[in-house]
Amino acid sequence: MVRYQHEAAYLLAKGDPQEPRNPISDVIPWRYTGNKLHPTQKPLSVLVPLIESFSSPGGLVLDPFAGSGSTPVAARALGRRYLGIELDAAHHATAERRLQQAGPSPAAIARHSAPSMLDDFLCASRR
Ligand SMILES: C[S@@+](CC[C@H](N)C(=O)[O-])C[C@H]1O[C@@H](n2cnc3c(N)ncnc32)[C@H](O)[C@@H]1O
Repeated sequence: MVRYQHEAAYLLAKGDPQEPRNPISDVIPWRYTGNKLHPTQKPLSVLVPLIESFSSPGGLVLDPFAGSGSTPVAARALGRRYLGIELDAAHHATAERRLQQAGPSPAAIARHSAPSMLDDFLCASRR
């Protein structure tokens, strides 16, 4: 009847965290990347603005359901430390491979690229 076109996400905070200097929109457009690395893979172009807004350089980003490692890859690209937890051995291996193949932190590129270019850039070497 209708075309599924969105995914809801919850932003949870504990205590009284600092508000982001540049608040982002509560709707983030993204392009389907084909989920080549994980059946519910998140595009890096969505994770990057979230991590940028809600963490500081050098801060620690935790993804307890890391899947193919998209959050750690995005965190690394932005100069954050990361901790990913993944139950499935095959997905864990994918995440490890992605992180091993990541070159020097491409934070400058991440900040100045269009979302689709960012995904292409960060995923290119991992296919
Ligand atoms: C929605 S997927 C994450 C996809 C990820 N964001 C990506 O871009 O690839 C959730 C992941 O959580 C993992 N998972 C489920 N239960 C878990 C648990 N108790 N501990 C660790 N990982 C778990 C699943 O194996 C699955 O890969």
